[in-house]
Amino acid sequence: MGSDLPNRMTRNKFYITTPIYYVNDKPHIGHAYTTILADVLARFHRLFGADTWFLTGTDEHGQKVQRAAETAGMTPQQQADTTVVRFQDLWKRLGITNDDFIRTTEPRHAVVVQEILQDLFDRGEIYRAEYDGWYCVADERFYTEKDLSGGNCPECGRPVEKVREANYFFRMSKYQEWLISYIEEHPLFIQPDFRRNETLGFLRKPLQDLCISRPKSRLAWGIELPFDRDFVTYVWFDALVNYISAVGYRRDQTRFARRWPATYHLIGKDILTTHTVYWPIMLKAAGVTMPDTIFAHGWWLSGQTKMSKSLGNVVSPLDMIDRFGVDAFRYFLMAEMVLGQDASFNPESYESRYNSDLANDLGNLLSRVAKMIEAHLGKTIPQPGEMQETDLLLRNAVLAAAEGMVTAVEEMRIDKGLATLVGAVREANRYIEKNQPWALAKNGDTQRLQTVMYCAAESLRIVSGLLHPVMPAKMEELRSTLGLPAGAPPVKHLTEWGGLIPGTPTRSAPILFPKAAGKPAPQPETQPKQTPETPRISIDDFRKVELRVARVASAERVPKSEKLLKLQIEIGSERRQILAGIAQHYAPETLVGRNIVVVANLQPAKLMGQESNGMLLAASDETGRLAILTPASDVNPGATVK
Ligand code: ME8
Ligand code: MG
Repeated sequence: MGSDLPNRMTRNKFYITTPIYYVNDKPHIGHAYTTILADVLARFHRLFGADTWFLTGTDEHGQKVQRAAETAGMTPQQQADTTVVRFQDLWKRLGITNDDFIRTTEPRHAVVVQEILQDLFDRGEIYRAEYDGWYCVADERFYTEKDLSGGNCPECGRPVEKVREANYFFRMSKYQEWLISYIEEHPLFIQPDFRRNETLGFLRKPLQDLCISRPKSRLAWGIELPFDRDFVTYVWFDALVNYISAVGYRRDQTRFARRWPATYHLIGKDILTTHTVYWPIMLKAAGVTMPDTIFAHGWWLSGQTKMSKSLGNVVSPLDMIDRFGVDAFRYFLMAEMVLGQDASFNPESYESRYNSDLANDLGNLLSRVAKMIEAHLGKTIPQPGEMQETDLLLRNAVLAAAEGMVTAVEEMRIDKGLATLVGAVREANRYIEKNQPWALAKNGDTQRLQTVMYCAAESLRIVSGLLHPVMPAKMEELRSTLGLPAGAPPVKHLTEWGGLIPGTPTRSAPILFPKAAGKPAPQPETQPKQTPETPRISIDDFRKVELRVARVASAERVPKSEKLLKLQIEIGSERRQILAGIAQHYAPETLVGRNIVVVANLQPAKLMGQESNGMLLAASDETGRLAILTPASDVNPGATVK
């Protein structure tokens, strides 16, 4: 198992970038998301052994920054200098391991932009013309009359300004056919697939030449055109160049050849056109090779709506860090968003995922393993004996999960890989319950106890190694408990069983993820409490209720409902759908594969337009906590509960 892994990890260099963020405002959760994702990918590729480079930075010119500066009563440079620190501090706080941080106001960048402009101008790729058009200040983009939607900006819907002036234009239109063919011949160039189609759709309309200048009379804050001092460079033509200026383009040929082309330009879907149309054509005109992949992820929403300052629903990364710590925040963002899709941020799912995946599953496994080894095995990694079937099953499940995570990184499905790893953690917890190490200890079956605890600890070694890129600090802590050396382990050590060395001293278990207390539930008007006054029922009454064990085959949220999950369950060979009001307590994917208890003979009902055929049993207490009922050990789905 895992033998083909090294072959798939042959990429020997890896260069990843984030967008460079505008310094008009402080960072929010969307900026944190892209940067953490880039960090996780960079960390993984370092562990795969690739020569890795990770670039982020700030976009400091243009109208947006100039306006923010005016509002704040500062010069644009002061505005940039103040805001950039907020980004840099946040990245430090979030454990971001960028190798470089580029600011577009740095000479090392500005000079390269000017050289490219001069070169393109000299070769006739840039020309001067009188321009007549509509300008959106917010988006800093020009539109023709027919681009407008209802007289407003087609992108953001805001009013546009009529502008007539001389400007400089980049001959983008002549590259339209070339770009279409390039995209068609390189299926991995724009990802995911549906974004590639979006760009191809955009390219069905004739492409206009791009206005790459702004008269200083209107906007002074930018890089001066080298061939006309009355103009500054359009902010996008300046910003995109950061991806090459930062790695030595036109300055250090050796360095540039080592890093370029970028493996991934990570972006949000908002800046797809600039990255998949303008940028490739800029590179082509300058004679530079294309990046491997431009990957656009989805949007973090507040509930169902876009986060925006004016709506006051922007989630602050710092608040989220305060809640459960940096690593839990990193984990949540990576686990919750299906890469490419939109995701909605809500505090309830943050807490329930934290409690279920981290506190209950992972934290609990570590504390069980470390405590048993401390109490019964001399606080050292035990020597395992012969592997029995249950041990082999666990080993196979863990190795398959490790392979799943590696594949997920290659396929840009970090969320899927993490779900697989958490599945393996659950498997290890079930393994412990099944093998009852406390009973083995009590009965003096030391040989078997050693094997069981070795297997459980070894599972943790592998899983924690693969979670390291996502939760570096917590996984260091976990691994030091098992006596493992500090630092991230190379991935090749994580795809083979047996890395823990018997005799290695272990440490006492820390509480890695203290369980979140949960918000007190709003007090219902009448408490349906079980009191002695509740009338007694006969055994015959009870027998009318058909309680059965069911296995959850799949689970998802019910759209527009905060409370409901829709579960497909198997009761023996029968399949059914039930709805359960547990969405605020359990993330749907954490339920899949679990055995639950349902009332099987309840009249079917419709909730939010969806059929529910049965009822899940769950316990809730007066603090608002809720726990689903599951059989304490393995029984087959379909078993009756009496
Ligand atoms: O566009 N959900 O900078 P910017 C997910 N300077 N990601 C989000 C997000 C959200 N709600 N909000 C922002 C710019 N992002 C230009 C880029 S690159 C040469 C120049 C992330 O500060 C996402 O990565 O507006 C998005 O593309 C980026 O922040 C936009 O950041
Ligand atoms: Mg933006």
